[in-house]
Amino acid sequence: MRTGTMDINAEGHLEIGGCDTIRLAKEYGTPLYILDEEAVVQNSREYLQSLQRLPRSQVVYAGKAFLTLGMCRIVDKLGLGLDVVSGGELYTALQAEFPAERIYFHGNNKSLFELESAIQAGVGRIVVDNRYELELLSQLAIKHHTQVSVLLRVTPGVEAHTHTYIQTGQEDSKFGVGLANDAALAMLKCIKALPNIDLKGVHCHIGSQIFDISCFKIAIDLMFDFIVQAAHHGIVVDELDLGGGLGIRYTEADDPVSITKFGHLLTETVLTACQQRSLTVPKIIIEPGRSLVGEAGTTIYEVGAIKDIPGIRKYASVDGGMGDNPRVALYQAQYHAIVANKPNETADFVYTIAGKCCESGDMLIHDGKLPFLEPGDILAILSTGAYNYSMASNYNLIPRLAVVTVYKGESELLVERESYADLVRLQKIPDRLCKKSVY
Ligand SMILES: Cc1ncc(COP(=O)(O)O)c(C=O)c1O
Repeated sequence: MRTGTMDINAEGHLEIGGCDTIRLAKEYGTPLYILDEEAVVQNSREYLQSLQRLPRSQVVYAGKAFLTLGMCRIVDKLGLGLDVVSGGELYTALQAEFPAERIYFHGNNKSLFELESAIQAGVGRIVVDNRYELELLSQLAIKHHTQVSVLLRVTPGVEAHTHTYIQTGQEDSKFGVGLANDAALAMLKCIKALPNIDLKGVHCHIGSQIFDISCFKIAIDLMFDFIVQAAHHGIVVDELDLGGGLGIRYTEADDPVSITKFGHLLTETVLTACQQRSLTVPKIIIEPGRSLVGEAGTTIYEVGAIKDIPGIRKYASVDGGMGDNPRVALYQAQYHAIVANKPNETADFVYTIAGKCCESGDMLIHDGKLPFLEPGDILAILSTGAYNYSMASNYNLIPRLAVVTVYKGESELLVERESYADLVRLQKIPDRLCKKSVY
């Protein structure tokens, strides 16, 4: 299995974006996140092209998947919008001079400070999640003598999980307002009644790492039924945001739908739904995160201790783990690895790849097929571009990794490796504990 621009070079090493990963390991150290910028560019173009038949559309990158100043620049230069979910993500986008009008601000409990920062920055859309937030927004809009453009987050009662989905009708979710009992309709009426809030449209997000894309069809139809219902009450919905969720390939067993096929399905479903209901096609917005950056990311580690428990299991420990990739411990996520210094060797052995955290559950791969491993080998774990760096922690006070972007044979840092000094930079020793005798 290979992702993005991966290749094997003349030296027999794994190469990404035209850069030799063994050289990257020497230059930047391990463990190291590598972002294949060309793969992000290609995925973005595929998304934009797949929606071309829609009269108006916008691809908005979900920054929660991976966001740094440099990533904001990539997203901007590709002409995409940016979905942020916290004051910190908003701050990062603004520091990178990302155009505020292309920012969508999400979240189920945005603070007053976050909402005010968003209004002052002039973000394009605030995705209203609940009534309390709507009240805060209305007060802030009045205070700042401004109009705030919003989408309402609706939970359509379709829940998707990788291979399956369920239609609950009554959505049990901490996000948004349900369609049941006309709750969402009541919220739309509330929004319309507020003079400083400008209702632009509605939003839904039905899940993540979705393989069975037929659930999007169901969600789209439900959302258009809702749009018709709103129209009967004189409420115009001009924008429909369908969220993110397309699945990616983590292992050889995964067979996700291509971005093109997904975009075409969305396009056809939307056009048909509008025709059937005699509606003008609204602006369609989508918010891919994982499918834009997931397969564009690879993490390289150095193999250290190898423990063979005869008849039971072979463990190969690496110099990172759940601190840089918590998804295995959190969601039993599965990954595929390549030995970057000998990618052509056949995978005749079975290893469990263990992280270095003091935690039995700190594993990166359970019983994966790999070539014979030795200390010093460089192990590349694929498809770590989404929800890895953004979910990383300093557990065990292990510094967070550096992130390097590779593009057409050149590599540059997006994030420097944390130092030990960084780990204690914000810490204090209370004066009381500086005295000689305390207790
Ligand atoms: C509102 C919203 N939009 C977009 C996304 C991105 O989803 P994905 O990374 O699966 O494409 C998420 C992910 O949780 C989300 O909650």
